[in-house]
This record gives sequence, structure tokens and C-alpha cells, in this order.
Amino acid sequence: MNAQTSSADAVSASARDRVIIFDTTLRDGEQSAGASMTYDEKLQVAELLDAMGVDIIEAGFPIASIGDFEAVSEIARNTQNAVIAGLARAIPADIARCGEAVRHARRPRIHTFVSTSPIHLKYQMNKSLDQVIEIINATVAQARGLVEDVEWSAMDATRTPIDDLCRCVEAAIRCGATTINLPDTVGYATPEEYEAMFRQVIERVPGADKAIFSAHCHDDLGLATANSLAALRGGARQIECTINGLGERAGNASLEEVVMAIRTRADRLPYVTGVKTPMLVQASRLVSAVSGFAVQYNKAIVGKNAFAHESGIHQDGMLKNNETYEIMRPEDVGVRATNLVMGKHSGRHAFKEKLKELGFELGDNAFEDAFRRFKDLADRKKHVYDEDIEALVEDEISSAGESVKVMALTVIAGTGGPQKAIITMDVNGTHVTKEANGTGPVDATFNAITSIWPHQAKLSLYQVHAVTEGTDAQAEVSVRLEENGRIATGRGADVDTLVASAKAYVSALNKLTVRRQSPIVNVAGAEPIRIGERV
Ligand code: KIV
Ligand code: ZN
Repeated sequence: MNAQTSSADAVSASARDRVIIFDTTLRDGEQSAGASMTYDEKLQVAELLDAMGVDIIEAGFPIASIGDFEAVSEIARNTQNAVIAGLARAIPADIARCGEAVRHARRPRIHTFVSTSPIHLKYQMNKSLDQVIEIINATVAQARGLVEDVEWSAMDATRTPIDDLCRCVEAAIRCGATTINLPDTVGYATPEEYEAMFRQVIERVPGADKAIFSAHCHDDLGLATANSLAALRGGARQIECTINGLGERAGNASLEEVVMAIRTRADRLPYVTGVKTPMLVQASRLVSAVSGFAVQYNKAIVGKNAFAHESGIHQDGMLKNNETYEIMRPEDVGVRATNLVMGKHSGRHAFKEKLKELGFELGDNAFEDAFRRFKDLADRKKHVYDEDIEALVEDEISSAGESVKVMALTVIAGTGGPQKAIITMDVNGTHVTKEANGTGPVDATFNAITSIWPHQAKLSLYQVHAVTEGTDAQAEVSVRLEENGRIATGRGADVDTLVASAKAYVSALNKLTVRRQSPIVNVAGAEPIRIGERV
């Protein structure tokens, strides 16, 4: 069978079961070390996920901080179609806070979880299974008192004896849970085991037909996507996943892999999702940009090389017929052929059209700034590609409203050392110039910035990525700063790598300043938390 047409033809749509796509990029994804996003970035990601047809957006963990609470509330208010879920531990204060945040949504969901495995019960919770079942009864009932749609998760389900798991699931359904999630929290299961677990629980638990079963897989053994698909065979009809596979430790099942596997192998996977797959690359780029986590070149579906054919034999085949080496059409996931867009003679109208085509809608001021930067870029760079414009606009969007900006930078580098940087910054409307030496030009640049803007933050990531090919390519730099448990990621793009680095560093400092004003607080007596802590 022809791989590219099989998805549409093999099984008619009506015969295929609808799989609910639950995106947790903003919760489990954001929880991965160093991937924190700002309020505005979360809103931007949620808007795109909703437009892309994701069924459920887990928008955050409302009790974790005021910032999380506000982001979940605002996403709940703004979202048009998707169900908005918030996460809550099995603690009354968590559930109440979560209910408060999601209540603004057209379709709110409370997602509450508790550990069920012997190892978690013994070392983390210090509770017996009977005590956990009491907790399930109370917390699921409390959540159901607040919203109609309640998801309950058995944390570490895959290391829970099946009899214990069935007792917990039965309690959750009896108390009104409408979705039952059985996570492979530690990424330990094999596909056969995971499928069998769903089959057994669904067969054995009275009332299982009243709930939708959900898979939530972590990628510690690289099996998250395979396990999620196996869960469908076992009876699950919801998959929890993230863009780019972001998530705790090795990450979660990747949304783009799950969705494209279902679409491409409809002959083997008789399911359908509501995701508009041509938006996958756009979503991947946005999440990579706001999280500061670059997408590896050979990442399935959305990696830069996912549709690149390097070897002579492959190129020869591709020239004769794409299907010789491509099982998906690049346009079905949103990959455009790299095209030369415009040069320095292109006008406002053409630029506006190009932005529309790339999915950007800018206000008047932002448009004028972006156009000015485009003209400047076209003067400096021979070929301007779509990727250049995307990098430029994303840089513009991420730095909008920042009170401190890089105005000019001169760096003296080379073998002689010490390297020296002279920087001018606009600090709340006043221009300040300082210079500093460093071990290398990047160090000198960051030292010069610190001499204008003193801080104690530690640099935990510095990453450079060339936007296109060629030595005149724009550099996109990501910088992550950490200070007293707060993390901020900044980005900058420029044809000069050092200017891009300075912009990224200053952008991260701006975000850190905002975070300092939004402290991690205790809510209703709960300590600041990370998932997995003792309840
Ligand atoms: O991995 C996990 O178990 C989780 C739960 C909170 C659903 O993320
Ligand atoms: Zn998880």
C-alpha cells in the first residue's frame, strides 16, 4: 500500500475511533528542568495548541505559584475550543485552587493525581493502600463538586500491582472521575505490558465503561510513543503528550510523533485525531523558542533533517518519486520548501503578506519595528529566507515591552586577548555605556552587561543555532539564567552572533526581573511544590 495515501484510504473515518489528544506541554513540559515559560509565552502556546485542534490543554499547576494560577486562569478565559485542565495533588487546597483557576473555561477540567505504587506509598507518602483509597474517595468527590469533568491519575501506575490499581481505579470512577489516566511515570513499561495493563483494568473494574482511559508515558527508555500507541490497543482513547516531547527527565511522548504515527499508519492504527497536522512544525518552533530547548536535527517529524535527503542514492530516488524515501509529505506536517523570500527592495505590503503566510499577526507598532529590522537584515544579508523572517519576528515578539535593551556592541576578539566588549544599553530610556574584559568574546560581552546591570544569576545554558545555511546566516542564541530557584530563558537573533548573545542575555535578565516580582508563594498553607513531593 502506498504509505502517503494509506492514512486517508485504509479505514474509513467513521470506522476509526477518535483519540483525544491531551497536550501537557504547559504543565509536564514546563516542569522539565530549565524549560520554564513566561506568562505571555504560555498564552501564546495555548492559543496555538487550540488553533491546532488539540482536544485538551493542561495549562499548568495552579497551586504551584501565583504565576501558574494566573496563566491557567487567563488561558481558561481565552481558549475557544479546547478543554482546559489544571493539575492538582490529592490535597483539598490544591483542588480548590485548581477549580478556581479553570472555572473561567468554557470546558473546565480538574486533573488530580495520587501515587499508587508500593515504592511511592512507602517512601514518598508513608501511607497504606487503604489510606490512599480514602484520599481518592475524598479528593475525586471534592473535584466533582467543582466541575463535571474530572481526571484522576494513578501516579506510577505501571509499577503498581494490578489488584491494587484496580481497587484505586474503581474508587475514582465510583466517586465521579470521568477520565482515568494510568501513567508510566518513570518510563519503565514495555509496549506489551502497557497494553496489557489497560486491557486488564478495563476488563476487571466495575463501571470502567463510564470513564475514558488515558495514557501518559515518559521517555526514559525511548518507548513513550510506542507505549502510548500500545495503550490504544489496550483500550485507552486519550493520549497525554507534549510538543517536541518536552517533559520531566527524558520527556513525555511527543505529540507530533503520536499524531503522525496515527495518521500515517492508519492501516495498522484504526484511529483518528482532530489535530491539524500542517501546524506541527509551527508549534514545534514556538515551543522550542519559548522553552529554550533546541529541537535535535534528527528529531522525528519536526527535526530540521526529518525530510532532508543527503546520500546520492536517496537523492536520486527522491528526484524520480518522493515516495521512494518519504513516508509522509513534508507539507502535511508544515515543512515548507526553503524559499528565497524577499530582498531589500521588497515593500511593506509584500512583507505583511509574508508574515501572514508564516502565521504572524503583528500590531502596527510591532509591524513597523519588524519591517525596519527586515530592511536592515536585507541590507546585510544576501539571501533572506522564511526562517530568517521567523527568527527576526520571534526575537521582536520576545523582547517587546522589555525595559532594558541592547543598543550597540563592539567586541575586540582574536588570539591576542584579553577579549574586550564595549556595550551601550537603554536602561528605562537612559543610554549607558560600559566596557569589560573576559575570557573570550562572549564572556566579555556578558561581563559588560553585568557591569551595567549587576545581578547574581548563574548562566546555566548558552546555545547558538544557525537559522539558515551559509556563513552570513543569522545566529539564534538561547540563554538560561537561574537565581534562587527561578529560571528565565532569553533569546536573541542577529547576523552577528555576539549581538544575538547580548540580546539573549539581556532578555533573560528582563524576564528574571519580572519573575522576582512574582514570588513563588504558599497558597492556603501549601508549601511551594514540585510534582513528586510528599503529599
Ligand atoms: O508522570 C506522571 O505520573 C504525571 C502525573 C502528574 C500525571 O505527570
Ligand atoms: Zn508526567
